[in-house]
Amino acid sequence: MLFRDVNLNFTPGNIYGIIGANGAGKSTFLKILAGDLESTNGQVNLGSGERLSVLRQNHTAFDAFQVLETVLMGHEALWNVMQEKDAIYAKEEFTEEDGHRASELEEKFADMDGWNAESAAANLLSGLGITEEFHHLRMNQLSAKEKVKVLLAQALFGKPDNLLLDEPTNDLDLETVNWLENYLAYFESTVLVVSHDRHFLDAICTHIVDIDFNKIQVYAGNYSFWYESSQLALRQQQQQSKKADERRKELQEFIARFSANASKSRQTTSRKKMLEKLNVEEIQPSTRKYPAIIFTPDREPGNQILEVSNLAKSVDGKVLFSKLNFSLHRDDKVVFLSRDSRSMTNLFEILKGHIQPDEGSFSWGQTISKAYLPLVYDHLFENDLSITDWLAQFSNDTTEIYLRGFLGKMLFSGEEIYKKANVLSGGEKVRCMIARMMIRNANVMLLDSPTNHLDLESIQAFNNTLMKFKGNVLMSSHDQQFIQTVCNRIIEIGPNGMIDKWMDYEDYINDDKVKELRKQIY
Ligand SMILES: Nc1ncnc2c1ncn2[C@@H]1O[C@H](COP(=O)(O)OP(=O)(O)OP(=O)(O)O)[C@@H](O)[C@H]1O
Ligand SMILES: [Mg+2]
Repeated sequence: MLFRDVNLNFTPGNIYGIIGANGAGKSTFLKILAGDLESTNGQVNLGSGERLSVLRQNHTAFDAFQVLETVLMGHEALWNVMQEKDAIYAKEEFTEEDGHRASELEEKFADMDGWNAESAAANLLSGLGITEEFHHLRMNQLSAKEKVKVLLAQALFGKPDNLLLDEPTNDLDLETVNWLENYLAYFESTVLVVSHDRHFLDAICTHIVDIDFNKIQVYAGNYSFWYESSQLALRQQQQQSKKADERRKELQEFIARFSANASKSRQTTSRKKMLEKLNVEEIQPSTRKYPAIIFTPDREPGNQILEVSNLAKSVDGKVLFSKLNFSLHRDDKVVFLSRDSRSMTNLFEILKGHIQPDEGSFSWGQTISKAYLPLVYDHLFENDLSITDWLAQFSNDTTEIYLRGFLGKMLFSGEEIYKKANVLSGGEKVRCMIARMMIRNANVMLLDSPTNHLDLESIQAFNNTLMKFKGNVLMSSHDQQFIQTVCNRIIEIGPNGMIDKWMDYEDYINDDKVKELRKQIY
């Protein structure tokens, strides 16, 4: 059982960030709300005549449709009217009945602002960087990344009264994430968004919905507020000696401080009011579990780590990078950036020896051993294995007691180690992939979007481990905080060149010289 006795009311204008551990049931909850899955008990009511729209996870469902059509289909009622109208006008014989129906439809069409629909859809697409030459292509002619943007436009199209987004930032580049943050800031509908991205949650949320211990609870405030206040409540719980009114005062001071600093977030004033009204008794301690992510390299890397010379790669006729040159030094923790995330995936796949570069070469040092977290691993889970047997595939020692140690560190305990690999949630799969990496005792980490799907506690644990890690890290990431705290070197790769800086991520993004250079490499 995932949860019971859930009674919630979501109000327009608010953005609810749904958080909870991997496997807590967030995706299941959204599926129930969207009507894709039946709940065992209870019901879901929408306001009368309200529209609900969902960011689709199945990226190929609309392959047969044109891009602009796909967006219009996001408003189902309008789309149906358009289809019926077109069918009537296409008839050779136009009966009186058809005439009536057509005028009825025209009226509905106008009511739903149909005349502006196409231009509104086109605007949304353009805002997302899908320019006009793409609007009449078929979906299957688009890259995976472009498809995600079209599906996002589909979900947002026609300002639905209720919007459900399940991990929308996973496949988006940072620029699009920023676009979405700004877009949602002016959105007047009810938005429920599952996300593990701290920065994104803080930027958009008015409320946090916490799914934990079979319960779902709603708190006012953004993620940082929820996190800080629940940590404080936890500390207080441990200091039983403190008097109740002292604890209360401490909490109130915390809320006052926090609402004074809430300037960065959206709807500052209304949030402030909300926090002032907040009953301090409502704050609950957080009892989340942190996985123990421990990488113990067999040995430290020697002086020769990695030399890359003149590497080039194109896909589908598009140059991802060319003349890529760099060598890795001790203690380098590198984030690779690019407007096209396929660049990083291709680079890592080349460096891991899975695919060939078009030009150039690279060599790893003798002392180097690598652990890889690829972007795509779903196929590894499409089998009938228990997670213990799944992990055994990658281990020399296949005794249950040995494997249980790693699974336990990744929070699979008790009977859970017999769970089938193919029913795991998104984040549970990543935890298995991390267990697989831990077994390797490598001194170089290749990580392609490592925080995708992971819950905030796992991200934190991963983050701390990588900060302390004695070997090298090469990664791509959409998580600004993760990059900022782990990496000391940035390599941005474009079709026309590269930028290579030992710099902080925040400095890099704001540096005027870098801004100039970025124009030249794409
Ligand atoms: N058919 C099944 N049999 C047994 N357990 C299942 C089945 N389908 C899903 N589960 C389990 O239900 C739990 C909830 O899954 P769900 O996908 O809702 O999690 P989630 O909160 O969205 O997690 P994540 O953050 O990782 O996406 C998981 O532990 C998952 O393994
Ligand atoms: Mg999920």
